[in-house]
Amino acid sequence: MSFVSFLISSILLFLIHQLTAEVTPLEFYPGERDALIQLREAVKSPVIDLHSIWIGPPCHNSNSNWVGITCYNSHVISIVLDDFQLRGELPSTFLQNITYLRLLSFRNNSLLGPLPSLAGLLHLNFIYLSHNLFTSSIPLDYITLPNLIALELQKNILSGNIPPFNQPTLTDFNVSYNSLQGPIPQTPTLQKLPSSAYYNNLQLCGKPLPNPCPAPPVNAPPPWNQTKAKKKLTVWSIILIAVSTALLPFLVVLVLVCYFRKTGLLNGQETEDDKSGDLAEKKMKNTDPERRVELEFFDKEKPMFDLDDLLRASAELMGKGKLGSTYKVNIEQGSTIAVKRLKEMNGLEKKAFVQQMQLLGKMRHENLVRIVSFYYSKEEKLVVYEYVPCDGSLFELLHEGRGTAGRFPLSWNTRLSIVKGVAEGLLYLHESLPSHKVPHANLKSSNILVSHHSNSNNNQIYLTDYGFLPLITSRKAALDKLSVGRSPEFTHGKKLTHKADVYCFGIVLLEIITGRRVPPQRQDDTSLDDLSDWVRSVVDNDWSTDILDLEISATKEDHNEMLKLAEIALECTSEEPEKRPKMNQVLTRIKSIK
Ligand SMILES: *[C@@H]1O[C@H](CO)[C@@H](O)[C@H](O)[C@H]1NC(C)=O
Ligand SMILES: *[C@@H]1O[C@H](CO)[C@@H](O)[C@H](O)[C@H]1NC(C)=O
Ligand SMILES: *[C@@H]1O[C@H](CO)[C@@H](O)[C@H](O)[C@H]1NC(C)=O
Ligand SMILES: *[C@@H]1O[C@H](CO)[C@@H](O)[C@H](O)[C@H]1NC(C)=O
Repeated sequence: MSFVSFLISSILLFLIHQLTAEVTPLEFYPGERDALIQLREAVKSPVIDLHSIWIGPPCHNSNSNWVGITCYNSHVISIVLDDFQLRGELPSTFLQNITYLRLLSFRNNSLLGPLPSLAGLLHLNFIYLSHNLFTSSIPLDYITLPNLIALELQKNILSGNIPPFNQPTLTDFNVSYNSLQGPIPQTPTLQKLPSSAYYNNLQLCGKPLPNPCPAPPVNAPPPWNQTKAKKKLTVWSIILIAVSTALLPFLVVLVLVCYFRKTGLLNGQETEDDKSGDLAEKKMKNTDPERRVELEFFDKEKPMFDLDDLLRASAELMGKGKLGSTYKVNIEQGSTIAVKRLKEMNGLEKKAFVQQMQLLGKMRHENLVRIVSFYYSKEEKLVVYEYVPCDGSLFELLHEGRGTAGRFPLSWNTRLSIVKGVAEGLLYLHESLPSHKVPHANLKSSNILVSHHSNSNNNQIYLTDYGFLPLITSRKAALDKLSVGRSPEFTHGKKLTHKADVYCFGIVLLEIITGRRVPPQRQDDTSLDDLSDWVRSVVDNDWSTDILDLEISATKEDHNEMLKLAEIALECTSEEPEKRPKMNQVLTRIKSIK
């Protein structure tokens, strides 16, 4: 009997509990949820799909089912999304309504664009945004956060000056590895920090860094004070003036000598046939030990060297392109690198160059040649790449030695695997550089390196020469130097988009399918480019298996697949950019081919 009553009361209790649980209004702050939804919609990640897991209310009292979110009293108090390869731009003011936020952490992602505004977040203690691709200056509203303890912004591409942070609570501050410049403000908070918090910026100066700021130009005394100043000339200054006047001719000679030494370094005009040792020879002239120039490296684990090591090393000309010549350089530490000397970029500003190199230095993909370092001076711009051992460019593999016994034909399978590697590299660039209208901008068969394993599909494909469009300042130069300069929209004076890369990819596909050489670019820019004509000539004459490269047309069982690829090529080379598919669609279709 007692057992039954116990049972009944338990059931009753349970029901009452259920009922009240349902009746109790769920405490819920829609403004906070809206903010997180804005974030969910703005970023993408290949490893986590926020869209499918950030659903329902973010907080249940002090619990949350949302990955990365912590709640307290039904308020969101922390957002931690580290290491998720997040891409995209943060909405600028989305955090405004998460008023109880204490911790914000997006470490080690690929977030782009400006840092988010944090105005009014009185409870915010910790901000970790390091290791991303943020490009703005540091927002002024960060200096008004009253409870800020940590602000980690290292390894981004931030520019501008450091605002005068002076919160006494702020003890963990790091802005190293950015493009900041100007003096470090003389506030107690910022001066207390170790210099490593400021290392590796474009032009930061003053304490706690060892390099002092250049003295501000001394203003001439006002004219009404000049007479007085003149009277103050001492005997010493008269002697000094006399001596220096006497020395002037010598000084002039000295300056001239230095000038010529300097231009001798690396900077001579290249002649057509200086095949090797060219870089090395020029360097020999510069052995001044005072002038050691540190280079910045993106990967500290790899062997490092400075400019002098580079200059002392033996160099071999690998190729001459429109952007400059590339050398294979063996440095003393026993490693090999590839150095590209950009030519005709003397008008390029240091800031633009450094920022672009820092951005490109963060691109990591198996189908991209990695940039390991760079060097800028007024006369000389070097881009240091990893050296990839390869059998040649796609151009060489497709066209060289045709009709000779030494020719090793490129099989259909090899071609298809090359196409796939190129598409993957290009898609990576398109997704990680959405702020660039044309992320690669110079795709063509000679910029595709192939490491070829003859009997398998195991080819290594590397795209090179990518990301230079933002460094090219004139339309004419873009036309002459980059393959997107040959796209129909560019030749018709219209704006370039990422679809110009797709066009260039289509041209590469046609080259691979037909085995025909693309006509070289015309030098006179008055006439329109004839690349479109070439495409039409390939396509118009009876679109059938006749167009296939003889080296692959023999394997009849693959004809269907080849024609499928040809169809993709046709869409990619469509005259109107809107009709061309996006790279992710292209890649999906290529993968379905086999
Ligand atoms: C950054 O995140 C990636 C995964 O997204 C991880 O492999 C890598 O080790 C992380 N790097 C650092 C420095 O934590
Ligand atoms: C914050 O909330 C207010 C009031 O609900 C709203 O008007 C505003 O648009 C919200 N801000 C953002 C950035 O969503
Ligand atoms: C700042 O960050 C850099 C790079 O992660 C690190 O090497 C340095 O030690 C940090 N310095 C401080 C003071 O946190
Ligand atoms: C003129 O010079 C004197 C001392 O050299 C200085 O004290 C004074 O302020 C100056 N006057 C102006 C108007 O700059």
